[in-house]
Amino acid sequence: MISRVQKINTSSESKDLDCSSAMAVLESEYQSPDGLSVNELMDSKVQGGLTYNDFLVLPGYIDFLVSEVTLESKITKKVTLKTPFMSSPMDTVTEVEMAINMALQGGIGVIHHNCTAEEQAEMVRKVKKFENGFITDPVVFSPTQKVGDVLAHKSQFGFCGIPITDTGKLFGKLLGIVTSRDVQFHKDKTTPLSDIMTTDLVTAPQGITLEEANEILRSSKKGKLPIINAAGNLVSLLSRSDLMKNLHFPFASKTPKSKQLICAAAVGTRPDDRMRLEKLVEAGLDIVVLDSSQGNSVFQVDMIKWIKKTFGNGLEVIAGNVVTREQAANLIVAGADALRVGMGSGSACITQDVMACGRPQATAVYSVAHFASRFGVPCIADGGLSSSGQIIKALAMGASAVMMGGALAACSESPGKIYVRDGQRFKAYRGMGSIDAMQKAGTSSESADNAATGRYFSESDKVKVAQGVSGFVTEKGSLREYIPYLTTALQHSLQDMGVQSLDSLRAGVNSGKVRFELRSSGAIREGDVHGFTSYEKRLY
Ligand code: IMP
Repeated sequence: MISRVQKINTSSESKDLDCSSAMAVLESEYQSPDGLSVNELMDSKVQGGLTYNDFLVLPGYIDFLVSEVTLESKITKKVTLKTPFMSSPMDTVTEVEMAINMALQGGIGVIHHNCTAEEQAEMVRKVKKFENGFITDPVVFSPTQKVGDVLAHKSQFGFCGIPITDTGKLFGKLLGIVTSRDVQFHKDKTTPLSDIMTTDLVTAPQGITLEEANEILRSSKKGKLPIINAAGNLVSLLSRSDLMKNLHFPFASKTPKSKQLICAAAVGTRPDDRMRLEKLVEAGLDIVVLDSSQGNSVFQVDMIKWIKKTFGNGLEVIAGNVVTREQAANLIVAGADALRVGMGSGSACITQDVMACGRPQATAVYSVAHFASRFGVPCIADGGLSSSGQIIKALAMGASAVMMGGALAACSESPGKIYVRDGQRFKAYRGMGSIDAMQKAGTSSESADNAATGRYFSESDKVKVAQGVSGFVTEKGSLREYIPYLTTALQHSLQDMGVQSLDSLRAGVNSGKVRFELRSSGAIREGDVHGFTSYEKRLY
């Protein structure tokens, strides 16, 4: 137990002290600052490992503005992001749209591998080819399609302004464009689009910058700007409304040279995963995540060594998952550029129940990050994060970034449709070790080699033992609102702690300046909303 007894002069005869001496009294008469250092907090583990809910960070001194707080952080030895957010490699979380939008917001998405190597490589390619503001897979119609098709499209998707090409596809010869005005008062739904499309087009050449294209849209007063190549074929489209939203992503995660979005993807450690990884690297992959629930294995050590030998320093390797210093040491020696920390803390996870292996997440992050930081290896706190408070606690425990599954599966950018039940909107979310995910793996042509089987089952298993569940999460809208909300919440939180950056947070925690407090079960209740008959929790 931690001793909280302080030798303080509490004599009843003592008079009130001079207020101006408060700082001096604090320093001379109290043995240590209020609260606990991180070591003392962790020493309390005689009571058990700690979860994020078991403690709080004490407030510090504020002498800067919220807007002056920065969240820049390393996610691997060589890659630094402007925001410390990563999306999990899960098939209900990260595909192309999630990866692009995470990178635009300054974080990064890790593309899952519960698919064929070709499908995964194609997703990587799309992220790398993404050009901010340019729609690279626009809806395209052919001149023989009818007015009725456009009206049906408009009522389903809410927009028209559809380019017409000879093939009815992208990369066909651009012939015209059909806008709302062309179809608005047209009574005959069977009229072919060739009769009503606008052929007097304003276009821009491939390679144009967003700023130049913006200028053309402004002066031409058009809503859509088709981008064509030298042969007159449609290569992408720019939309005025998207342009306004897309122009400014000052935090976007890009490679310094190519200015392409940074892309990460997960693979396993089987022999076939080496071939898979070669395809991903060919598609432009920047960071590979070795996806194992227990990463301390000869397979992972061999895979790291092979990657470093084959791809040199061009490819960063995030190894894991680990929860102890001993597991971490093996992967650090093998050459890991970062470690993913967590076993059993994920919201869809039943590993601790089924395997009896795992560790409470705050303790796991602290133990591994404290050790790995001595070798300059960043750690990613993976799983169990559903609020900004939990995220900041993970970062205070030494993580350089956080990885989220369930919290992001609920966003519009995750794969899969929205289900509506009793007026509520839901999205599917499942653990990669759930029977559902495993069955999808079983139907794939590469069943033995992809995520669900690779991460949670070994090839000799005849009986499948699930380590995850599947279900639904409440839909929470776009990442474009959620990530800025998390970013601002973290800035406020750091300001309350009196630190201006994540580096200062870690330095303050290590030096004992940033202090902590354990929470009793009563304290946890006190910190939650109480005393209401009903209330609405709107966060942003
Ligand atoms: P969440 O953010 O709490 O939903 O946790 C996401 C993390 O859970 C992922 O990044 C994985 O590390 C982990 N995970 C994913 N699927 C499973 C599973 O089936 N069992 C155990 N852990 C899982």
